[in-house]
Amino acid sequence: MNRRAFLTALGATTAALAVDDAWAGTLADTAGEATILDVGPLDSFEQEKVYDSFRDRGVLLIRRGDELFALSPVCTHRGCKVRTQEDNSFLCKCHKSRFDPHGKVVNGPAVKDLLRLKVKLTADNRVLVRVKKPQLTG
Ligand code: FES
Repeated sequence: MNRRAFLTALGATTAALAVDDAWAGTLADTAGEATILDVGPLDSFEQEKVYDSFRDRGVLLIRRGDELFALSPVCTHRGCKVRTQEDNSFLCKCHKSRFDPHGKVVNGPAVKDLLRLKVKLTADNRVLVRVKKPQLTG
């Protein structure tokens, strides 16, 4: 998928990015509350699945149809990291909270959905994800 197709397909996501002023600037913006993680070239995320190789760095990258989005793996109950299940849902083994493939809570004790992270495509088609620093630990 080329840059134009990506941006077109992700209309809702790119609109969300457009209103994230902190993200709209340079990487230097990230000193403080967040950091930017370069997760690789766009064409490495063409298969429909959860890419969880960046889980320990605070990112689950998810391709569903024409949508590419990122979730925090940090459970919203008490901060354990969720694991991807065969059906692409997420399970937190600490207290058994379950989240659907879009990160929505299905079963508690968690009551909040997994945090959706900002995703941006660079001019040379690399995918960047904005990660809040507290998510890099734990
Ligand atoms: S920390 Fe995930 S269910 Fe409690």
